[in-house]
Amino acid sequence: EDGYALWMRYQPQAAIPGEVVRQPVSIVVPNATPTLTRAAEELRRGLSGYAAGPVATAPAVRAGSVMLAVAGDPAVASLHLPTRSLTDEGYLVRSVTIGGAPVTLVTGNSDRGVLYGAFALLRHLGTGGTLAKVDLTSTPKVKLRVLNHWDNLDGSVERGYAGQSIWDWWNLPDLKDPRYTDYARANASIGINGTVLNNVNAKADSLTAPYIAKAAALADIFRPWGIKVYLSARFSAPIEIGGLKTADPLDPQVAAWWKAKADEIYRAIPDFGGFLVKANSEGQPGPRDYHRSHADGANMLAAAVAPHKGIVMWRAFVYADTDPDDRAKQAYTEFKPLDGTFADNVLVQVKNGAIDFQPREPFHPLFGAMPKTPLVMEFQITKEYLGFASHLAYLGPLFQEVLDAPTGVKRGQTVADVVDGSAEGHRLTGMAGVANIGRDRDWTGSPFNQANWYVFGRMAWDPEADADTIAREWAAQTFTPDPAVVDPVVAMMMGSREAVVDYMTPLGLAHLMATGHHYGPGPWVSDLARPEWNPAYYHRADKQGIGFDRTRSGSNAVAQYAPPVAKRFADVGTVPERDLLWFHHVGWDRRMASGRTLWEEMVRHYDAGVGYVAGMRQQWDALRPRIDAERWEKTATLLAIQEREARWWRDASLAYWMSVNGRALPAGVRAPE
Ligand code: GCU
Repeated sequence: EDGYALWMRYQPQAAIPGEVVRQPVSIVVPNATPTLTRAAEELRRGLSGYAAGPVATAPAVRAGSVMLAVAGDPAVASLHLPTRSLTDEGYLVRSVTIGGAPVTLVTGNSDRGVLYGAFALLRHLGTGGTLAKVDLTSTPKVKLRVLNHWDNLDGSVERGYAGQSIWDWWNLPDLKDPRYTDYARANASIGINGTVLNNVNAKADSLTAPYIAKAAALADIFRPWGIKVYLSARFSAPIEIGGLKTADPLDPQVAAWWKAKADEIYRAIPDFGGFLVKANSEGQPGPRDYHRSHADGANMLAAAVAPHKGIVMWRAFVYADTDPDDRAKQAYTEFKPLDGTFADNVLVQVKNGAIDFQPREPFHPLFGAMPKTPLVMEFQITKEYLGFASHLAYLGPLFQEVLDAPTGVKRGQTVADVVDGSAEGHRLTGMAGVANIGRDRDWTGSPFNQANWYVFGRMAWDPEADADTIAREWAAQTFTPDPAVVDPVVAMMMGSREAVVDYMTPLGLAHLMATGHHYGPGPWVSDLARPEWNPAYYHRADKQGIGFDRTRSGSNAVAQYAPPVAKRFADVGTVPERDLLWFHHVGWDRRMASGRTLWEEMVRHYDAGVGYVAGMRQQWDALRPRIDAERWEKTATLLAIQEREARWWRDASLAYWMSVNGRALPAGVRAPE
């Protein structure tokens, strides 16, 4: 097992009592389309695995058939099933009787719905279900469920830790690597329906004719799997590849250039999704270079794609030297006043927190603050600040924590309600995940990183889904549904992200990683050119205390939250301890809920993080007889690396804090090694 098959292994499940699939099974597709043909082929592949025998396609139903058909198909319509509420992407999979024969029906209002139903059936079988009395139904709550590849045209991947880019730009459009199809299958299986092919730090070249042809070849492969292609657009492209003197969004020549460019793309990719844009952030060009607003820039691009039903995802991750007192405030400061000024086909894409994909950040204050604008949630699946691909950190609990957070805008309103549009009645909604996929055999650098891709897709489908349930699903399909494996694997996963928080940045600390690469510890760094590049800017530790005062006596970033949330965070007595040092500068001797001092509590967290990783190693050792050798070995080795590095983080951090606060280690704690 080299991990290539991801969670789509479709192995006979010896551990499950009873038969998963009773023979004979046949697959029937009364009215084939490219999508339904692929759904049927996937089911044939899966059912053959579970049934450990051949599964045929047949022209007509008989007892034991699985039938794939859209709800409008006469064979389905006559069954009068509740399909209307499925809207255009939902599915219904149900045991029915057709002409006296017991049949498993997979249906939806579109062939994409049927495709998702086929995958739901395979998930059901892969998690211990059988073909008897099936009744599965679900409709996605979010419309655009999109991967963001930070892949460069030279094959490197920004913050990618699983090898080179899977896009072989050199040999595209001719060479259609079968891996592209497997990529599409994997994404379709978890409901992902869009992919941005290139890095947000975009090169204008990606919009030239040769690259449009390459993107079109990928779009052709992905289309039957319900996946649209998008491109990151470089705002200054009209200058770089268009020969214009300006990229000013209000210049008619610039607008005309983008319109012609969009027309050209749509001739090659008729269902092109649209553009993702990083503008005026970290040195990228943008409308502000011309004293125009983000809305001016976004709306100009939106007008270019609107005739083709395209959309623009405009990122709110604006990070420039303009808010020196607190970097965390910048996105809100620039975007909140623009609410209501964006075109209908623009979504503003907001990172989950206000800094940058830290192991823990409070939810971004823009969620709930721009009711007139659809906001895309941007999560990072690749673990830039959580130990790259080496450390085991299941991100389900991070995603869930953010999505479940109350915005404080209205009673009961959560970030998930904002993202899925229910808060303000937006129909155009989205969730984006910065992909962790590369050319490694196992796609993501380790078997457990696959779970982060998986949980992103499942939570984009349903932002109210539960991280634990999804971990179970993933573990069952990836290893075996045997509870003797699933239970310990899920137990390892569920606490793994908190362990990273503990050994890297406990109690609301953030951005203490080493310069540039963000891998190891660097809390002592304080001499970089810009203040907010330095970890010292974030932790503000001195002899008396530690933490970033974001209350009124400090940067007052807390005021960007709706009043009830702002009040809770601003009060050192009510802020959750896990966010304490994010919002407050407090003394080392401050009493915590446990009765320990802050310093003692911090030490305890660092130690707990290391201890958790040691515990995962033991749990994984015990699983050795039940996991294939290749995936077991790789994970065991990575866990050993993680334990060593968790100690490194703890010991280096504690040694540094001790050099600042002059305190000894609390009694009972060993000195750093
Ligand atoms: C982080 C990351 C960059 C990336 C940026 C972004 O700052 O380190 O590599 O370009 O986020 O999201 O645009």
